[in-house]
Amino acid sequence: MTPPWWADAVFYEIYVPSFCRGRPPSAGPGLAPAGGRMAGDLAGIRRRLDHLQWLGVDALWLTPFYPSPMADFGYDVADYCDVSPAFGTLDDFDRLLADARDRGIRVIADWVPNHTSDRHPWFVDARSSRQSPHREWYVWRDGSPDRPPNNWTAAFTRGPAWTWDEATGQWYLHLFLPEQPDLDWSNPAVEAAMHDVLRFWLDRGIDGFRVDVVHALGKDPALPDAPPDRAHLPWSSQNDDPRTHPILRRLRALVDSYAGDRCLVGEVYLLSTTRVARYYGQGDELHMAFNFPPLYAPWTADAWRHRIRRVEEEMGPIGAWPTWVLSNHDNARHRTRYGSEARARAAAVLLLGLRGTPFLYAGEELGLEDAEVPADRVVDPGGRDGCRAPIPWEAGAGHGWEGADRTDVWLPWPPDPDRRNAAYLRSDPGSILHLYRRLLAARRASPALRRGGYEELDAPEGVLAFRRVAADRPGDDRVVLVNFGDSDVGCAAPWPATVVVDSRGEGEGGPYAGVLGASAAVVLAPG
Ligand code: GLC
Repeated sequence: MTPPWWADAVFYEIYVPSFCRGRPPSAGPGLAPAGGRMAGDLAGIRRRLDHLQWLGVDALWLTPFYPSPMADFGYDVADYCDVSPAFGTLDDFDRLLADARDRGIRVIADWVPNHTSDRHPWFVDARSSRQSPHREWYVWRDGSPDRPPNNWTAAFTRGPAWTWDEATGQWYLHLFLPEQPDLDWSNPAVEAAMHDVLRFWLDRGIDGFRVDVVHALGKDPALPDAPPDRAHLPWSSQNDDPRTHPILRRLRALVDSYAGDRCLVGEVYLLSTTRVARYYGQGDELHMAFNFPPLYAPWTADAWRHRIRRVEEEMGPIGAWPTWVLSNHDNARHRTRYGSEARARAAAVLLLGLRGTPFLYAGEELGLEDAEVPADRVVDPGGRDGCRAPIPWEAGAGHGWEGADRTDVWLPWPPDPDRRNAAYLRSDPGSILHLYRRLLAARRASPALRRGGYEELDAPEGVLAFRRVAADRPGDDRVVLVNFGDSDVGCAAPWPATVVVDSRGEGEGGPYAGVLGASAAVVLAPG
């Protein structure tokens, strides 16, 4: 059976405000919370499709590009069916989708169903009076103004997940900022309105959705307290209620009713692989779910071996197709976390050698580090500005951003942008950018790497070794060896082997000599 495209794909996350600017700065408003400085836009993404095609990615995940007051830089949506003037227009979206399709690149959009912006017309109406038609679309509770209805903690502020609405004398729930009130998904009108939103984009041809904090949709209506020892942790990383599953099954049915294997990739931010696996249902809920424990694992062979085993144990038996992520717009980049480019390169070999769909984060192919953000440029209430630094495309003042100079882009550039940029690295065959390109090509060329089984191999201390075998392609065996340690180590392959990809670019196409360099990784083929 041919697997659906998304199981064979390498995804690439584009954090829209930070990718590239295509229109002149005057073409739309800047980001108000960033002092009106300019952001990337949809035209900028179109401008860089050449880079993405050359790199070899199969699908793009675009973070929210909808109208938004930008309290959470787009994750506070004020209109689900339009494009923010900061990022362009619906025409720009259609053009981007068409141009991507012409290059064989799919596009999925971020969909933020748990909460809206407090400026969304639904919430503006809800807040206007207790009798308003949209009042019951959100989660309101009585109480006294000095005591929130329960002990839940909000993300980012780490204050109560409740805000007292003076005018109507009730509390409203927000698992994130007060500017992001939670919708009440037990209300059928909310679900119907959100299904309409999905149809709007599906009808336009979108290939699927990345679903924001999807595990938070179903809530226990009794809103019971968090256990006292966990009350200080955001409730958004704990809500795991069975009511979410029927909601997901209905979403799945809607998405599956469209031709073309449209997909739902859920952000299940529960730091337990056992729990994450439940969100695949019986193959009738999410097509894929993010599983973050590996992202938080330290860079050691033992930690990774354990994390991969957990995925194999939990997902394998139920036929749930895994995903792998090293970096995204919510966490320090892995180049920064792991501390060296050599390790970031080895991690790329690991990521692209695993069984499951890999998600790259724009800029990791450039080996970008997080930006140093001076206090007067901090804009994110969640402390995530560093990994959201704008992508430098070339040397020079605006780094390939239309009309930009060094200071008028919404966040500072990452370190060393005059060398660490796409054009410069492309001219250097030994660069990390070329490594990513070779890894993507190697994956595309090998059914074993794309969808073969995962078999752990014995390995010396500090090395992770595994084999990928495609049942239907005898001979298309691959072995991946990753040296997490900082010195060379002898490590045999199970058969005489050729180096397909080496994280340092050494000896590719030649015989594997049985020694792994410090912080190096290889993909091997028999022969
Ligand atoms: C998800 C997003 C994050 C956002 C939050 C609230 O975790 O990845 O960026 O702030 O949801 O929408």
